[in-house]
Amino acid sequence: MNANKKIALTGDRPSGKLHLGHYLGSLKNRVKMQDEFNQFVMIADLQALTDNYKTPEKVRDNVFQVCLDYLAVGIDPSKTTIFIQSQIHAISELTKLYLNLVTIARLSRNPTVKEEIKNKGLEDRLTAGFLVYPVSQAADITCVGADVVPVGNDQIPMIEQCNEIVDSFNSLYGPVLNRCKAIVPEIGDRLVGLDGKMKMSKSLDNAIYLSDEPDTLKKKVMSMYTDPNHLRVEDPGQVEGNTVFSYLDIFATNAVEVEKMKEHYQRGGLGDVAVKRYLLDILEEFIKPIRERRKELEKNPQFIWDTLKAGCKSTNDTANKTLARVKEAMKINYKF
Ligand code: TRP
Repeated sequence: MNANKKIALTGDRPSGKLHLGHYLGSLKNRVKMQDEFNQFVMIADLQALTDNYKTPEKVRDNVFQVCLDYLAVGIDPSKTTIFIQSQIHAISELTKLYLNLVTIARLSRNPTVKEEIKNKGLEDRLTAGFLVYPVSQAADITCVGADVVPVGNDQIPMIEQCNEIVDSFNSLYGPVLNRCKAIVPEIGDRLVGLDGKMKMSKSLDNAIYLSDEPDTLKKKVMSMYTDPNHLRVEDPGQVEGNTVFSYLDIFATNAVEVEKMKEHYQRGGLGDVAVKRYLLDILEEFIKPIRERRKELEKNPQFIWDTLKAGCKSTNDTANKTLARVKEAMKINYKF
């Protein structure tokens, strides 16, 4: 670690392969940040298990898949420490210690957790593990002493919860833990899914994955939501709320040409299929090098596991130091 650089930590639940929404909302930013920060990227398998505890093999497989995605987009293990949450024992221990500093009422008010409970239908079988995952997230962040946490808007409550824990810890036991700041990338929540209605997400089945093969990509682009009233090519079409155009706004490099297409579409005479073909070429060009790099990496699984092993080792070195200071402050550092 370079002592002059600030520490950044982000993470993903390994609940599936990563998609274009992940790329725009976080991966791209991580590739940029790795030069400026001491960056940690965590694969949050314990957090994924809080609602996938019945299918641990899937979580395990996704740890591998997510790491492949990271390396394929250019997260560089010589600059970024990639680690697996469950392998950092200090995280579990810190979680236990932080639990005293949080009330059940406070946890129950977390709007993101509330939303997830509703969306996942967990009302009648809400586990203690799920309700307290924001506390474990505070342990993720504080164990490496993160200064900044780049996240989507939905994670703001987690950062607030983390800083509340930090404040009450420090006021009770002394100034040990570091406060952190959320950074929300602008584009984060902008990429809609293929349906054009909701944010791109695996659970809504509206995602384009960084690993999608050309034929899958084609099928997805051709199925994208456009203007439902644009029935014949000659009809004037709507550009606002038209998924294909909103993707072009983000991915096309030739803005002048996109403007021309928009005008043509609005006037009438430009068909959906033509616009979709244009977008397909752009997306294929974007995804192709990532897909190919991913395939290369996949040929050598041991390299992926070695990368994770090295990341866990160096994170453990940092996290164990934090844990030692926490235990000392809490008077549980017995020296028999
Ligand atoms: N909760 C985050 C998500 O669902 C993942 C996560 C776990 C995380 N621990 C973190 C993000 C710590 C930032 C910092 O995407």
